[in-house]
Amino acid sequence: MKATAQAHSNIAFIKYWGNADEALRLPANPSISMNLAGVETVTTVEWREDLGQDTLMINDAPADAKATERVARHLDAVRARLGVALKANVSSRNNFPMGAGIASSASSFAALTVAAVSAAGGQLSERELSCIARLGSGSASRSIPGGYVEWQTGETHEESFAFQVAPEAHWDLVDVVAIISTGHKEVGSREGHGTALSSDYQAARVAGATDRLERCKAALFERDFGRFAAVVEQDSNMMHAVMMTSQPPLFYWQPASLVVMDAVRRWRSEGLSVCYTLDAGPNVHCLTTAQDADEIERRVTALSGVQRVLRAPVGGGAVVLG
Ligand code: PMV
Repeated sequence: MKATAQAHSNIAFIKYWGNADEALRLPANPSISMNLAGVETVTTVEWREDLGQDTLMINDAPADAKATERVARHLDAVRARLGVALKANVSSRNNFPMGAGIASSASSFAALTVAAVSAAGGQLSERELSCIARLGSGSASRSIPGGYVEWQTGETHEESFAFQVAPEAHWDLVDVVAIISTGHKEVGSREGHGTALSSDYQAARVAGATDRLERCKAALFERDFGRFAAVVEQDSNMMHAVMMTSQPPLFYWQPASLVVMDAVRRWRSEGLSVCYTLDAGPNVHCLTTAQDADEIERRVTALSGVQRVLRAPVGGGAVVLG
């Protein structure tokens, strides 16, 4: 009753922000992302007869009560689906530096879902694994399939899942992440989704999301970087406009984030294929092509306020390792 699974983190081009149904984690709008190769979580789940409660180790150290509780609630969903009555030992390892400001919830809940189901002998479809991963963290639904992935909103648990829209090899995009801050604690996306509607701009952002998603997909299918860049930056800016005007307001951009965003726009006007997008943190994801990635990495590294750079091409889906 033991299995190990691996899943990649992902970066959204059109963002998920706010839920239509908090309990089921049905998103207010559809989103689209690419998985990040090399930015991964490996999780082992062992269901055992002799345990009184679920346990969690993260990077070989016992996790705090809050993280353990969140994992236990997620295991409840797997137990309910597969009719398992046992508790589990869970051990999870991220290969990317903790505290580097790279969110681990997407890769963590995707790997946890696949490992827990596999350890219980369950044979679930990719679609259902994506639905279950969604319950742990919305963006985790997008780390189940490989390559370029869309998460449709859906009106029920079974309808809200992510699926591949193009395989890894379709376009050789690279995410060059400018790591700005590894330090201070922020309001996480989990709490942030709950305040999205307190911004007057959220309704407008959601109303235009499907149109932006279609424009993004068309640019992706045609490998049209100019159109891709325009809609990706617009969508990121809109999400941050909602964040900044919510109650309480969430300001994730730092001065160095703006330095990178400004440089990215300038480099694009000079002819490089690059655009930016930011999640719930100050790090700037600079999306570029394999052809321009070395030059972008060199330039981003040289900017003031950038602590280090992490580079990820398009990654595959969640897999059982054994
Ligand atoms: O899956 P969550 O609850 O961590 O939300 C992710 C939210 C963003 O990263 C800001 C956007 C996205 O679509 O990934």
